[in-house]
Amino acid sequence: MGDNHRLNFHMEPARGWINDPNGLCFYKDKYHCFFQYCPDSAEGKGRKCWGHFESDDMLSWKYTGIIFEPDIPEDRSGVYSGCAVPGDDGLDIFYTGNVKLEGDYDYVNSGREANQIHVRLDRIEPGASKKVILRNSDYPDYCSCHVRDPKVWKEDGKWHMVLGARTRDDKGCVLLYEGDSPDSFTFKGTLAKDDFGYMWECPDIYELGGRRYLVFSPQGIPHESHRFQNVYSCGYCEIEDGGLSEFEELDYGFDFYAPQSFEAPDGRRIMIAWMGIGDIPYSNPTVQEGYQHCLTLPRVMTSDADGKLLQNPIEEFKKLRGEATALCGEKWSKLPLETEGVCESGKDARIAIGGLSLTWNAGAGEVVLELDEACGYGRDTRRVKVSELKDFRIIADTSCVEIYMNGGRYVMSTRFYPEYPEVKIETEGVTAVLYKLALKDTLVAIGEALIDFIPDKKGCEFYEVGAFAPATGGAPANVCGAFSVLGGKASMITQVGQDPFGDVILRTLDGAGVDTRYVRTTDEANTALAFVSLKKDGDRVFSFYRNPSADMLYDPSYLTPSMFGNCYALHFCSVSLGDFPMKEAHRAAISLAAEQGAIVSFDPNLRFMLWKNVDRLKEAVNEFLPLADIVKISDEELEFITGKTDIKDALPELLKGKTKLVVYTCGKEGAYVYGLSGEAFAPAVRTEAVDTTGAGDGFIGSFLWKLKAEGVTRDTLGKVSSDVLEGCAVFANTFCSISVEGKGAIPSYPTAGRVDERMNK
Ligand code: FRU
Repeated sequence: MGDNHRLNFHMEPARGWINDPNGLCFYKDKYHCFFQYCPDSAEGKGRKCWGHFESDDMLSWKYTGIIFEPDIPEDRSGVYSGCAVPGDDGLDIFYTGNVKLEGDYDYVNSGREANQIHVRLDRIEPGASKKVILRNSDYPDYCSCHVRDPKVWKEDGKWHMVLGARTRDDKGCVLLYEGDSPDSFTFKGTLAKDDFGYMWECPDIYELGGRRYLVFSPQGIPHESHRFQNVYSCGYCEIEDGGLSEFEELDYGFDFYAPQSFEAPDGRRIMIAWMGIGDIPYSNPTVQEGYQHCLTLPRVMTSDADGKLLQNPIEEFKKLRGEATALCGEKWSKLPLETEGVCESGKDARIAIGGLSLTWNAGAGEVVLELDEACGYGRDTRRVKVSELKDFRIIADTSCVEIYMNGGRYVMSTRFYPEYPEVKIETEGVTAVLYKLALKDTLVAIGEALIDFIPDKKGCEFYEVGAFAPATGGAPANVCGAFSVLGGKASMITQVGQDPFGDVILRTLDGAGVDTRYVRTTDEANTALAFVSLKKDGDRVFSFYRNPSADMLYDPSYLTPSMFGNCYALHFCSVSLGDFPMKEAHRAAISLAAEQGAIVSFDPNLRFMLWKNVDRLKEAVNEFLPLADIVKISDEELEFITGKTDIKDALPELLKGKTKLVVYTCGKEGAYVYGLSGEAFAPAVRTEAVDTTGAGDGFIGSFLWKLKAEGVTRDTLGKVSSDVLEGCAVFANTFCSISVEGKGAIPSYPTAGRVDERMNK
């Protein structure tokens, strides 16, 4: 069974556990969202690190890896929450190094260290040196060992820091610090509130509309019928004359905690929160799939005339909307979706989306959110006092919902696990429209990911090779690598064995920024291996370990439509088209991708030695060719596939079925592109080749990346001009010229910046 709960536009980990967003900022032309990450456990156990997502537009977020992990004595039990302050010459990061001593401690007043740590980053990559700037002995005597979550900002020429704290007599508060540099802070006082919880976590301070706010996550607030219904709370007070106004909750749903904010370059205050809470009495079925939790959408914060904070999804989010359809009565729809509408004054209203319902009781002046047993996993009812529900906007990703009411004055966020793939939507007493939502930003590739063993000696017999070095390969995996290294989002669908080689593949793909959430592991077969030697005459001798390998056993039933929810293009090759389950999975993936409007791209990439009977290979290729919008074929493959030796004669064979574009590569000569309304040739870029491994995969990966950058979609693929086709081919040739100068496939792929640099030469 496939995993139906994978989200399409909310940040979540491929594996492991995510909690608080950290270090939100805009730095070096990108948005950054670090996060609390336990890569080894869906239950939040093991190493607690900082992972990192980045984005150009706050819509399409790409996971880039682990930036900090516990590796100094002062953060050995966890790199806890913190913030980032972007400057002209670097990023100043502050976080709490958590230390739990071994022994018989209560871990509140003894046995725990809370070290505030400063790190200066120039580029966002691991390895920077960490400096402890505050230790327990630096906090006021009345503090327990719980002091954490620094939020730092610059104001009036000084550095300012707030920390969340618990006093020795179990009262929550925040500590205020000030400094002349990011390394030296002096205690300035506290902000507290009578009788308001035992611990305040994740403080944030900012100004909006001339008022100053403290946002924090207090623990230990008694539950009420319409407020503080969750295990821990989250909200804000206005800071007035050094005191704090009445506390307002930020979100009335089941899953919201530890928000953080930053100022975008255009001045907007943007907030992202954890769509989860610690110690919840309900659960998430994704744990069975090896991951848990997600973050909210980026929300713009504004304030109304009364000083109440309003939250709304960033305006850019509307770009995800498809056509609007009117919503009345009952309707079935796929997730993700958005509905927006207004209520009639004084009349009850109700909207239900697959097991979740939102009701406004006009008489009682309350909004009630209810989840049924099947979709709630222990979540039942949440209520909020709303004297009049005027308008609402509901954004439902595959397994989470954000409900914005009255212009963002009231928000409810929750995970939900509805029936699949379609949900029933019912409305009463509202006028509403429905939008399908899609973010077509991802190259999805299906097929084999394997380990290529590269010989230490070339120009000899196979038996003369002394050692083989492992390198991640497999054409579809390489194509993902190329697309991702260029800065795009790529996602691989395959299966590896539960063995160390499977682990190597996952690490390499992760390291290249490829999304590996759809890479399954199995103990039914091993990871595919391929040993290669190069004889004197240049002939390659292969020895494949694939009888069968894990990738071949990938079953079509593992696929779900949500895997293609963000699909820009689906790419595949012929190695996986033999008579095993993976071939059927290809067929299913192609139709799911096509249904979502994605481009389908096919590079036969013939490997004769894998076929006992090459006629079967020819049949398989010819069966799949007409299903592809784009076909890449090389001069060496042309005759075998089409029976023709001249591409001009072969074109009518190739440009049929769905095919609208043929990319014909001729090695050292260059590449031809034939479209329905234009054609182009780009000569190969001359260079000294060291290793051509993965060059062809790099060609099609970079070609697709450029096509996307040019704004070409499946709908416009038949109308692409010769100029654009030429630009894409030149780009791909240049990409390849750099790739062959380095060893291996993915490790040799250049970034977009390097390709542009070479093109400008
Ligand atoms: C909030 C929190 C923070 C802490 C972090 C640890 O969810 O408990 O106080 O820094 O999570 O992951």
